[in-house]
Amino acid sequence: MSSSSGTTIHRSPRLMRLHESDARAIRIELATGLLASVPSIAPKFLYDALGSRLFAAITDLSEYYPTRTEAAIFRTHRNAIAAAVGEGCTLVDLGAGNCEKAASLFDALRPTRYVAIDISADYLADALDYLQFRHPALDLLGVGMDFSTTFNLPDEANVDACVVFYPGSSIGNFTPQAAEKFLRQVRLAAKGGGLLIGVDLNKPSEILEPAYDDALGVTAAFNRNMLTVANRLLGANFEVADFRHVAFFNRVESRIEMHLEAVRDASVRWPDAAANSSQDSTQESVRVFRAGERIHTENSYKYTPDNFAALLRRAGYTRITKWTDADEWFGVFWADG
Ligand code: TRP
Repeated sequence: MSSSSGTTIHRSPRLMRLHESDARAIRIELATGLLASVPSIAPKFLYDALGSRLFAAITDLSEYYPTRTEAAIFRTHRNAIAAAVGEGCTLVDLGAGNCEKAASLFDALRPTRYVAIDISADYLADALDYLQFRHPALDLLGVGMDFSTTFNLPDEANVDACVVFYPGSSIGNFTPQAAEKFLRQVRLAAKGGGLLIGVDLNKPSEILEPAYDDALGVTAAFNRNMLTVANRLLGANFEVADFRHVAFFNRVESRIEMHLEAVRDASVRWPDAAANSSQDSTQESVRVFRAGERIHTENSYKYTPDNFAALLRRAGYTRITKWTDADEWFGVFWADG
C-alpha cells in the first residue's frame, strides 16, 4: 500500500551545441587534408555517432589495455585521488563520450556539477539522459564542441577552481607541442582548479601495436568509418573497400600512427568544397590515391612518466602527483598550482 507521498523531481540534462565550424568550413578542412602532399583526415572526424560507438567497443577489446588499466588505477587509488582532488567540485569532462569513466568517480569525488564536453553532441545527449536517470539530483550540463584547436569553457561552465578530467590518453592524440599549448589553455580555464589526466606510457611494440590493430577488426572499422564520414560531409565517393587500416609504433617519434592505405589505385571525387552548398557547385575536385599510398588519420603519443610530468610543468602546473599500475603501462596525473 505504498503510495508516493513525495514526488521525485528528475532534473533533465541541458545540452548546448557550440560547434563553431559551419558545413562549408568543414568541407574545406576535409578537402585541404585530402589534397595535401601527405594526405590526412583530422582525427575529430573519427567521432560521428557510429564512430563513438565503435570507440566504446574498442575499449572492451582484450588488446586495448588503456581503458581497463586506467580504470584499475582509479579503483586502486580512489581514496588518494579523492584526497588530492577534493570533494564537491565542478567536474569538467573533456571528450566525455559515454560518460562512464567520470561516472565511476562520482562516488569518490562527489561533484556538485558535471559538465560533459564532446564533439559528438548526439552521442552525448543519450549518455547524459541515462546518467541523469541514475543520478537524479546531479546538476548535469552537456556541451557539444570541438576543443581540438582552441579550448574555452562556455560561460555556463565557467566557474572558479573546477576540476578538468581528461582521461583515456586523448592528450596523446596531440603532438607534444600542441599538447603543451592545449594544457596551458586548460590550466587557465580551470581558474585555480586542477587537471586529472590519464596518459598511456611507453612500452614494447608487441603490446602497443595490437591495441591499435585488434584481431576482430573493430579498430580497423573505427578508422575506415572516417571514409564514410568524408563521403557524408564532403560529398566524396570513397569506396571503403579500397582502403585498409594500418597502425604501427614509430619509436623515433614515440607514437602509434594510424593510416588508411589504398589497396589499389583509387580516384576519389567530391564537389567543390568552397561552394556554398554541395548542391550548387559545378566544379569537382579529384584526388588519385595510388596503391600503397596512405592517408594519415591519427597519432597516439606514448610518454614516460618523467616526460609527461615535464610536459605538465611546461604547461604551467607546479604541483604534480602520479599514480600508475604495477607494470607502469598507464599513468594518472593530478596537476594543479
Ligand atoms: N585516445 C585513444 C588512443 O589514442 C584514441 C584511439 C584508440 C584511436 N584507438 C584508436 C584513434 C584507433 C584512432 C584509431 O588510444
